[in-house]
Amino acid sequence: MRILVIGSGAREHALVRGLATDPATTALHVALGNDGMSSLATCHPEAGAVDDAAAMVALAREVEAELVVIGPEIPLVAGVADALREAGFAVFGPQKAAAQIEGSKAFAKDVMAAAGVRTAQSRSLAPGASAEELDALLDEFGPTWVIKDDGLAGGKGVVVTEDREAAREHAEAVLASGHPVLAETFLEGPEVSLFCLVDGETVVPLLPAQDHKRAYDGDRGPNTGGMGAYAPTPWLPEDGVERIVREVCEPVAKELVARGTPYSGLLYAGLAWGAEGPAVVEFNCRFGDPETQAVLALLETPLAGVLDAVARGHLSELPPLRWAPGYAVTVVLAAEGYPASPKKGDPIEGVTAETPVLHAGTAAGPDGGFVSAGGRVLNVVATGSTLAEAREDAYRQLDGIHLEGGHYRSDIALPAVEGTITLPGMS
Ligand code: GLY
Repeated sequence: MRILVIGSGAREHALVRGLATDPATTALHVALGNDGMSSLATCHPEAGAVDDAAAMVALAREVEAELVVIGPEIPLVAGVADALREAGFAVFGPQKAAAQIEGSKAFAKDVMAAAGVRTAQSRSLAPGASAEELDALLDEFGPTWVIKDDGLAGGKGVVVTEDREAAREHAEAVLASGHPVLAETFLEGPEVSLFCLVDGETVVPLLPAQDHKRAYDGDRGPNTGGMGAYAPTPWLPEDGVERIVREVCEPVAKELVARGTPYSGLLYAGLAWGAEGPAVVEFNCRFGDPETQAVLALLETPLAGVLDAVARGHLSELPPLRWAPGYAVTVVLAAEGYPASPKKGDPIEGVTAETPVLHAGTAAGPDGGFVSAGGRVLNVVATGSTLAEAREDAYRQLDGIHLEGGHYRSDIALPAVEGTITLPGMS
């Protein structure tokens, strides 16, 4: 199978690694890719913007793709999957209308209300709202205030705070950027990310994972795209995945079919596990980053066949997925200044093309090495028979890597290892 992957980060590097080890894969291309994945796939930095549908169709034709896998949300929300399907390609990734589940929080709330899915109460304000309207919104919600950018913000558009002034400042910044701002009630309970393969009404869950979104240890600092993750989640109730599928993902998939916009691709449910069970924090229309790096490290079923089954509408015929026993942990090494203003161009010591890290914001440097070229620079990924072992191995790998001014969290998966994650309503 000739495959084109669209995207350039560590999530796409994880997808490329999984696809490259599937014997069904005969050729692997990436648009735009990055220098760190060029030993596994042919990268096409010249292809044009990933949300330029005509450019992506042209590349898919040029490389004679039999399957196109779209990683990031921006091309999906822009309708690149629609253009590729119209041109006759099998595509892993939802059509534009269904990708609104991530592209518009108002759309997602409407779908959830119709599907009877538990989520936070919310209200939005459009750009141009007055200071009085904003104050009324802040009076109605919080503390704790949950203020979201109702546009694509790469996971960084959410501020959760006890500080009314900080909530107000973020809301003003969102409105000034021309996006609507959404205020929500705060959902209690630990967060879990469950990725589901969805093909119409067929829903197949992957392993549950937990992301660490704040920049610094102890869940302090600004929200980021994600600083590390682990899978599976030992603290989730035994029937946790089954309940999320039954109470959240299947009803949403059915509702999208009923609206005439069936979902095909990866539905990412970000949930808080509260006293009544799972409640939706957000949906994304694609694999999560960095959870994918941990989840795919445990997938034993060859990946190309899995994604192809979804793309061709045969997911219900796919045999059950096989998973390696144990746990996986991924930790992100971020550049100095991330997330506010990451510094680029610094040499990364201890990483060559053979080092088994996943590259995100890197570029080829002198002498076969790499330099930083983005905020989240790279991920280490480790597996182990226990979560503690996987964690230790991930940090051992990071000990051998040095990026001047770079930073990473030292507590990824630690609360789960120490057993300090508690579920509301359970003693
Ligand atoms: N892990 C957060 C995201 O992928 O949006």
